[in-house]
Amino acid sequence: MKAIAEAPSKAIITGEHFVVHGAWALAAALPRRVRVEVADSAHPGFTFDGAPISDKRRLSPMAKVVEAMAKEYSFGSSLNVSVTSEVPQGAGLGSSASTMVAVASAVARLRGISIGAHDIGRFSMLGEKEVHGRPSGVDVAVSSMGGVLLFRPGVRPRKVRLTGARSLIIAFSGRRRSTKRQINRVSGVKELFPSLFEGLTEAASDVSLMAAERLSAGDLKGLGKIMSFNHAVLATIGVSNPGLDRLVDLTLSLGAYGAKLTGAGGGGSIVAVAPGGKEKSIVSGLRERGFEAFLAVIPVGGVRSWLEK
Ligand code: PMV
Repeated sequence: MKAIAEAPSKAIITGEHFVVHGAWALAAALPRRVRVEVADSAHPGFTFDGAPISDKRRLSPMAKVVEAMAKEYSFGSSLNVSVTSEVPQGAGLGSSASTMVAVASAVARLRGISIGAHDIGRFSMLGEKEVHGRPSGVDVAVSSMGGVLLFRPGVRPRKVRLTGARSLIIAFSGRRRSTKRQINRVSGVKELFPSLFEGLTEAASDVSLMAAERLSAGDLKGLGKIMSFNHAVLATIGVSNPGLDRLVDLTLSLGAYGAKLTGAGGGGSIVAVAPGGKEKSIVSGLRERGFEAFLAVIPVGGVRSWLEK
């Protein structure tokens, strides 16, 4: 018997980085998923795409999630955990959070433990803290709950209702980077300019609340303006770079209403919204210029798990 879980990735629509410091962020689950299969095994271990994971930095966050669950629910952790992923790593789409969420969810399913999004999040955060140092929890919340969320640390996430399906354009800059390093960079800015940073954090929070209203109402033009504004603020605190700025400008020149970096920045991906008739041609235009781009139709469900023989 094995348990399988599939967890969605995510795009932060507004509020990344500032969410670590208490602001609201708006984020959506994306249809690219991480899949985890878990089974009891006399030869326990972790594999990624069929190959054993030996690098301790990659292994230890997942192992931490499994060990914490084994301790809390008193079960043996002699498990074989196999991970496959449609989510590029280091691309700002929350691949590590999706992996932790899928691991926690599959282990719970295998052991017959009924576990809600809150507890999946609690265990997943143990792994995420090893990866990112100081995660806000937004990635984990979105991957476990799915949909579109307004998230702020320490507060129950608010689901944002959409009046219909919407599309987000996602494009990967091709440059992978460490979220941890980017978070530390922003903490440096906060130390240097504490009161200025506090003002920016409050503004980012307002930006996310406004963005949620626009998205909910289906006003993608208004949402796009807010997203472009948010990109400029993120550039001000040093988390964009010339490559991302060029990718944002290119997406706008192809007809998007608005575009911004998504996630930790410094590389990774951008997210954009566009008029319905232009979304596909923008994605094609980005691909023609060598970028890995796709259209993500939201809302998307959260993690799901099941048993298989
Ligand atoms: O780049 P990602 O997918 O790891 O997103 C990180 C988002 C941050 O706001 C920078 C950090 C966080 O935990 O909220």
